[in-house]
Amino acid sequence: MKTTHKIIYDDAREMKEIKSESIDLMITSPPYPMIQMWDEMFSLQNPEIANALKEEDGQRAFELMHKELDKVWKEVYRVLKFGGIACINIGDATRSLNAKFQIYMSHARILNYCLSLGFNALPEILWIKETNKPDKFMGSGMLPVGAYVSLEHEHILILRKENKREFKNPEEILNRQKSAFFWEERNIWFSDKWKDINGVFQKLNYVKVRERSAAYPIELTYRLISMFSVQGDTILDPYLGTGTTTLGAIASGRNSIGYEIDANFKEIIEERIKEMKEIANLYISERIEKHREFMKKIAEIKGEPKYWNKNYNLPVVSLQETKILFPFVEKIVKIHEDLFQIDHTTEVLKYPQQSRLSFFHKIPS
Ligand SMILES: C[S@@+](CC[C@H](N)C(=O)[O-])C[C@H]1O[C@@H](n2cnc3c(N)ncnc32)[C@H](O)[C@@H]1O
Repeated sequence: MKTTHKIIYDDAREMKEIKSESIDLMITSPPYPMIQMWDEMFSLQNPEIANALKEEDGQRAFELMHKELDKVWKEVYRVLKFGGIACINIGDATRSLNAKFQIYMSHARILNYCLSLGFNALPEILWIKETNKPDKFMGSGMLPVGAYVSLEHEHILILRKENKREFKNPEEILNRQKSAFFWEERNIWFSDKWKDINGVFQKLNYVKVRERSAAYPIELTYRLISMFSVQGDTILDPYLGTGTTTLGAIASGRNSIGYEIDANFKEIIEERIKEMKEIANLYISERIEKHREFMKKIAEIKGEPKYWNKNYNLPVVSLQETKILFPFVEKIVKIHEDLFQIDHTTEVLKYPQQSRLSFFHKIPS
């Protein structure tokens, strides 16, 4: 199996390179409105935003920033296939403007707009990013009334265009079975609180890109891709940043298209793609090994397993897991400017055991 990965260094408010109804899944994290690090980027997209911020008119600035994001969500709705899913990672923002402290609820604003486009909302995930920093508490300290609850989570909105996707012919049905996940993974992945994914180390040493990358971890994209698409599908990220969604797609045997308005990210994206063979194969083999360990514990409690995955000589909990077949990464080739091709293999490509977190959460420095 081969997959392709295209990066378009352009503005996603108009995705003219993408045909309508051609994308299976969209995963992204946009610039967060009213978080200071994005003020300049939003102001470049609409200079009125800079004026609103200068006048300390928070509500107007917030709305104008969302108007720029709306254009992308509208395009996402156009390019998604019927039954396709959109996952939007978004954090709300707290800020004081004009001597008024308040929260700007971007997740609610985006959700409302997406519903108006015709999306159906599915249960969302709260990505818990607990911090022990003593300065996380805001406001009047230990005195009542003026102290504020600290923000320790972000949202992952999950939206669907039209009805549930169907898998009709035998080939589609088999591909869906190969793309299944293990029972114990399902129990963690489909919980509405994700507590086990840490934020990534954000400092970038690349001189040309901004100080902080605002990247999310590969694990986050890998999970969402595994949950809401099948092998060979096409994944879109309109706000690609350092290319994390592309990396998740490579590791899971999906095609991808990413838009990034800032071409200075090219060097870091390409470097990360080139490193993905080792990282992806290590991660997949660790999934298999972790499952083997899990089944040993199950066998101690419940005795001999009823089902077996012959591809890996593995016991499994249910019939749905018996055909799982992972697309290991055999070769990564840059076939054209901003276009990469991956040769996948079903042969198990193992790598020496190292810490998965250090790899899967890594950003090159
Ligand atoms: C929050 S960051 C995404 C980080 C990414 N998830 C990662 O892991 O690196 C948002 C990105 O969107 C880009 N961006 C902002 N507006 C854009 C637009 N209209 N079209 C394309 N990219 C845009 C920014 O340059 C920034 O890199």
